[in-house]
Amino acid sequence: MSELTNKINETMNFIRTKTSVKPTIGIILGTGLGKLAKEIKNQVVIEYENIPHFPVSTVESHHGKLIFGTLGDKKIVAMQGRFHKYEGYSLQQVTFPVRVMKFLGVKSLLISCAAGGLNPMFRKGDVEMIVDHINLLGDNPLIGANEDSLGPRFPDMSEPYSKKLQSLAEQVAMDLKLPLQKGVHTSVSGPNLETRAEYRFLRMIGADSVGMSTIPENIVAVHMGMEVLAFAIITDECFPDALKPVSLKEVIDIADKAEPKLTAIMTEVVKRMK
Ligand code: HPA
Repeated sequence: MSELTNKINETMNFIRTKTSVKPTIGIILGTGLGKLAKEIKNQVVIEYENIPHFPVSTVESHHGKLIFGTLGDKKIVAMQGRFHKYEGYSLQQVTFPVRVMKFLGVKSLLISCAAGGLNPMFRKGDVEMIVDHINLLGDNPLIGANEDSLGPRFPDMSEPYSKKLQSLAEQVAMDLKLPLQKGVHTSVSGPNLETRAEYRFLRMIGADSVGMSTIPENIVAVHMGMEVLAFAIITDECFPDALKPVSLKEVIDIADKAEPKLTAIMTEVVKRMK
């Protein structure tokens, strides 16, 4: 057995001493989006610091809890707080919880994040459904010997975000009368925000939004055969010719304000998932 599979098994053994729930849906809650956790019923909460092989979130705006429970009639597991490359973690560490989710029984992964808006039609507080991505992290969680029992060496990336789940989310947004932008997301390592020249470059290569997470988790989920649906809350407008300084406080305030929209969409998507 590989070192990675060993670690996953050790983590699984620990989790199984806390809960026997077998979730089919996994949710990663990003910056300012932790409140969806309140909607989860019958909660079993495990702090990351107690989970073997889980990194510990070093960002204040991120909690560090794995929450098991039900949303509607679905068994789910949610990560309240996630890990980033800029914290100093390898992408293998960042994505370890996604591998554990798969072993727990998760088939569909919902991801949320905060992002800068590059598309001039986007505004602060908009919710964007991510339809494709450009990985600019300069790194990949699949680098290294491939564990064939977990997934293929060269995963196909023609549909990294499930078309079926995207249609469902569009229908939900329409029914709830909530506007939903669509776009291509790109991830950079951070932690600094981008320069004007960098935002101009990212827009030119076809990105609508930019963040510092989400793509590694997507890649590992695709590697393990999970379907993925991802959303970004646009927390700042990254228009190179009209750029204003942004603080973390503003990013979190905007994410907080937009959060009820995304929570409503994600909760309803989970309820309607087959
Ligand atoms: N750039 C990168 N990541 C971000 C941004 C940004 O402008 N806003 C929120 N996350």
